[in-house]
Amino acid sequence: MRMDFKLKNLVLIGFSGTGKSTIGEITAKKLGVQFADTDKLIELSENMSISRIFAEFGEKYFRQLEKDVVRECSEKKDMVIATGGGVVLDPQNMANLKSNGFIILLKAKPEIICRNIYEDKNRPLLSDSENLMDRVNEMLKIRADYYKDNHYEIDVSDMTVEQAADEIIKSYNMMG
Ligand code: S3P
Repeated sequence: MRMDFKLKNLVLIGFSGTGKSTIGEITAKKLGVQFADTDKLIELSENMSISRIFAEFGEKYFRQLEKDVVRECSEKKDMVIATGGGVVLDPQNMANLKSNGFIILLKAKPEIICRNIYEDKNRPLLSDSENLMDRVNEMLKIRADYYKDNHYEIDVSDMTVEQAADEIIKSYNMMG
C-alpha cells in the first residue's frame, strides 16, 4: 500500500496506551518509510529509560529533550513519527510537527488505555497512581483541548493494530 507523501511526515499524537508506537511502526512498514518514536530517541540519546530520566532530572528536563527531538524529527521528511502523550502540551512542538506533517490523533476508551498501560513501569506520570482509571480520566480531561490540535482523529478502541494502520493510511490519502 505504498503511497506518495504529499506532506512530509505522518505524525501520531495521543494519550499513553493508544498504541502510537506499535501502530506507527506497522504503518511505516506498510508505507515503506522510516519510523521514528520520540520517546525511544530520547532514551537512546540519554542511554536511560524515560522513568529514570523523570526520576533523576525531572519532567522539565524531559520536556526539553522531547522538544529538541521533535524539532529534529520535524526537519526530516517521509517518516512516520510516534510522539509521547505529552508532546501536545508545548505549542512549539505542535507548530514544528504541523509545519511538516499530517497530524493524526489516536484515541481509545479509558478502559482500553488502562488495560494497555496497567503493567508498564516506564510511564512515570501514571505508574504511581493509586487509581489508574481516575488518573487517566483526569489527565484526558486536562489534555482534551490540546489533543484537538490535529488534522484527523481515529478511535482505535475496537481495531486491531493492522486495521488502525490501514485506517491511518486511508485517512492520509483522503485528507493529507
Ligand atoms: C508522557 C507520555 C509518555 C512519555 C512520558 C510523558 C505524557 O509517552 O513521553 O512518560 O506526558 O503523557 P507515551 O504516550 O508513549 O506513554
